Amino acid sequence: MKKIITITYLIFLLSIGGYQVKAAEKTDLLKIDWSFKGLFGKFDRGSLQRGYQVYSEVCAGCHSMKYLSYRNLSEKGGPEFSFEQAKAIAASFEVTDGPNADGEMFARAGKLSDKFIMPYENERAAQAANGGAYPPDMSVLAKARSGGADYLYSILLGYEAPPSGTILDEGVYYNKYMYGNNIKMAKPLEDGLVEYSDGTTASEEQMAKDVVTFLMWAAEPHLESRHQMGFKVIVYLIILTILVYFSMKKIWSRIESEV
Ligand code: HEC
Repeated sequence: MKKIITITYLIFLLSIGGYQVKAAEKTDLLKIDWSFKGLFGKFDRGSLQRGYQVYSEVCAGCHSMKYLSYRNLSEKGGPEFSFEQAKAIAASFEVTDGPNADGEMFARAGKLSDKFIMPYENERAAQAANGGAYPPDMSVLAKARSGGADYLYSILLGYEAPPSGTILDEGVYYNKYMYGNNIKMAKPLEDGLVEYSDGTTASEEQMAKDVVTFLMWAAEPHLESRHQMGFKVIVYLIILTILVYFSMKKIWSRIESEV
């Protein structure tokens, strides 16, 4: 009987250890050390701020992020731009508001409470401008695709010349990591495409890493507090296990001495 109980405790301990073990991941994707992975994972603030810059200067031309508001940019756990910076970012966009008293729509400067402006009027317009393909909304893209951050990173760096003999239609590009290898998005990143305000060299890999970090935060804004909570829960379970183990020993000690 005692053995069974001890084994149960062992299984319990192992299951705590297994908390971190994830389901089998895709092995063929490009992999880098993301700052946000693992039990103590945190977003790198600099990377998040640079990632926002890449998104707004490059990707936002085609991809919307309709669930984000400008105020999210200054919230804790995110890029943590200062309140003033976030306000200035919002004000740099023109938002259509209305109708006013005359029943007309009007343009005004963006406010913190506004959602990120959309690149196209609607889905049809987006498709028409992109050879029939819809640039997916990026608010939760990092969570919506299997492979997550690694997948997005791989797509951005996966452009190659097609194998000889492959003929691509106009507006279709060869990408090693896209399903079916054909993607209707031209290679979006080139070395030096943006000029980082913090002086970081804008290599293709750096921009890909930064923008994917930003997209990961957008898809999972509470990742940091979730990790902190996970850590507390594990400490709690370990203490509980030790207490229960010793009380078990105490309770069984009398019975064992009788046997
Ligand atoms: C010129 C417009 C354009 C720009 C700029 C652009 N994209 Fe795209 N993107 C598209 C289109 C269109 C698709 C859909 C392609 C398809 O379905 O074949 C797409 C698809 C994607 C996908 C694949 C999503 C999936 O369905 O699995 C990712 C990832 C992506 N874009 C990321 C980015 C990032 C990051 C940037 C900025 C660095 C960016 N894109 C810039 C038009 C664009």
